[in-house]
Amino acid sequence: MKLLVTGGAGFIGSNFIRFWMKEHPQDEVVNLDCLTYAGNLENLKDIVENKNYRFVKGDICDRDVVFEIVKDVDLIVHFAAESHVDRSILDPSAFIRTNVLGTQILLDGVREYKKRFHHVSTDEVFGALKPNEPAFDESTPYDPRSPYSASKAASDHLVRAYYHTYGIEMTISNCSNNYGPYHFPEKLIPHFISNLMDGKKVPVYGDGQQVRDWIHVDDHARGIDFILQKGKIGETYCLGGDSEITNLDLTKILIKLMDKDESYIEFVKDRPGHDRRYAIDFSKAKNELGWEPQISFEEGLKDMIEWYKEHQVWVEHCKSGDYQKYYDEWYGR
Ligand code: NAD
Ligand code: TYD
Repeated sequence: MKLLVTGGAGFIGSNFIRFWMKEHPQDEVVNLDCLTYAGNLENLKDIVENKNYRFVKGDICDRDVVFEIVKDVDLIVHFAAESHVDRSILDPSAFIRTNVLGTQILLDGVREYKKRFHHVSTDEVFGALKPNEPAFDESTPYDPRSPYSASKAASDHLVRAYYHTYGIEMTISNCSNNYGPYHFPEKLIPHFISNLMDGKKVPVYGDGQQVRDWIHVDDHARGIDFILQKGKIGETYCLGGDSEITNLDLTKILIKLMDKDESYIEFVKDRPGHDRRYAIDFSKAKNELGWEPQISFEEGLKDMIEWYKEHQVWVEHCKSGDYQKYYDEWYGR
């Protein structure tokens, strides 16, 4: 089988390609990525020499490039996106372009050449939960509250619209917060690990009582594999890590694991429209596909800290782009 993976030079896409090529060594993988600040070919250094892997530098908004590749593959797994909520608050434009328009162009290719499409989405499309409300599942109404989640919600709706209107073969996964190797150091866990490694304080937004559910990126990759092998066309599957925790409690765990103390915590101005809680009920994936997360949050976090310590050159490379400019803008807002 031949796969097109979009956004394969990013955090989850690169881990997915590594996972897929290990589990399905006979398959060919084409990675289409335009290498934004978040895309990094170093993430796939160990894969480059594999004869079944090909990288194409290109934009999913470029119809000619997309059609040329889609024509020639069996299956598309679509990760490419602008993915950081805080950046979407500073400027939503790139989020609408890539996440909405780019997805529509891919869908046009899928429709034209009749290929299978898997859309990688987020639990953030469901909005925010109150403390005692049941976790999100596939029947939860959409209620996105950030420009990022609104753009992902729009793309989910487009995928379903193309299924109903044109009969494309599609599945969708809505997954909770990922963490693991190659996680770009602007998101909470890698940003805090990186700051603590540098002896800097960690900026906790607001009161730190927001809750997230964390899933190891390998469990996410395995979940997508299960959907591709056993999922039903037209269906959506929620994937979660069974690891709900407040940002403050998570920060305290990271501080302890890195031999620091709580004087490293700095409470800073809250994110506007900050979603209070995300949680996922993944019973459908468990009952229908036999998937559930396997990596404990405790073990996964320890491994990730070790990985970060061993990949300081990679971390510095991530920070060489617009990293400082972005933080100046975010904290100067
Ligand atoms: P990321 O920001 O690390 O990587 C995104 C990749 O897409 C980068 O390599 C970038 O260069 C590429 N890209 C961006 N715009 C492009 C364009 N126009 N054309 C081609 N390539 C482009 O993101 P991530 O965290 O790996 O997330 C991947 C996907 O998973 C996204 O769709 C995101 O919404 C979804 N998701 C992420 C999480 C999470 O916790 N990170 C959770 C659930 C779902
Ligand atoms: P993030 O990793 O950006 O993921 P998302 O917003 O998609 O859930 O943020 C996770 C949580 O951590 C979120 O509640 C915001 C919070 N946060 C901080 O408190 N400080 C930070 O520096 C960052 C990046 C996030």
